[in-house]
Amino acid sequence: MSVKIAPSILAADFANLGPDVAAVDAAGADWIHIDVMDGHFVPNITFGPDLVKAIRPYSKKLFDVHLMIAPVDPYVEAFAKAGADLISFHVEAGAHSHRTLQLIRSLGKKSGIVICPGTPASAIEPLIDMLDLVLVMSVNPGFGGQSFIKSATKLIADCKALIGDRPIDLEVDGGITADTAPLAVQAGANVLVAGSAVFKGGRDTLAKNIAAIRAAAK
Ligand code: DX5
Ligand code: ZN
Repeated sequence: MSVKIAPSILAADFANLGPDVAAVDAAGADWIHIDVMDGHFVPNITFGPDLVKAIRPYSKKLFDVHLMIAPVDPYVEAFAKAGADLISFHVEAGAHSHRTLQLIRSLGKKSGIVICPGTPASAIEPLIDMLDLVLVMSVNPGFGGQSFIKSATKLIADCKALIGDRPIDLEVDGGITADTAPLAVQAGANVLVAGSAVFKGGRDTLAKNIAAIRAAAK
């Protein structure tokens, strides 16, 4: 199975997000990764559903919306209506992850759970049959440009073991570069998020940067 690359628009030019989404799509992105932060669950604020709606016309690729917010449930429908294809949220964000997954699926969207480097894989075990995606954080969420936490490879491998042969994607997010991509893939990942490593250098180098991560992940 070939590895998918999901560029994070957190590292794009916020003054030109629509054209940057179109450019990264044309440069070979498989999915578009969209980081939503609330300044409460994580110590940074990005954007909400109106932004997702505004950039939706710029790409037909899967919109992979990573919610770093708490509470989650009051906002799920708005992101679904804005054009999210896959909605993921943190298992650490609240007590009712099972209910949130039911809500996402009831809206006809793919469902994902996100797990931080400090949480054991067993936290998502009861939810496994409600998932289309497990997203393992290889940094502490909140900011782009951090270094890959090497011990997260054990968490990736533990999640891979939980998934077994179920048709669930295993995505890794944080500090992915051509150097760290092989660590994530060897541990079991099949989708790699990359922000800084894709958008560094501006629009002219997007295709080259994506190709370098893809080649390293092989
Ligand atoms: C971090 C976000 C990531 C981030 C990755 O909280 O979830 O998606 O944009 O950025 P890089 O690739 O720069 O680590
Ligand atoms: Zn993310």
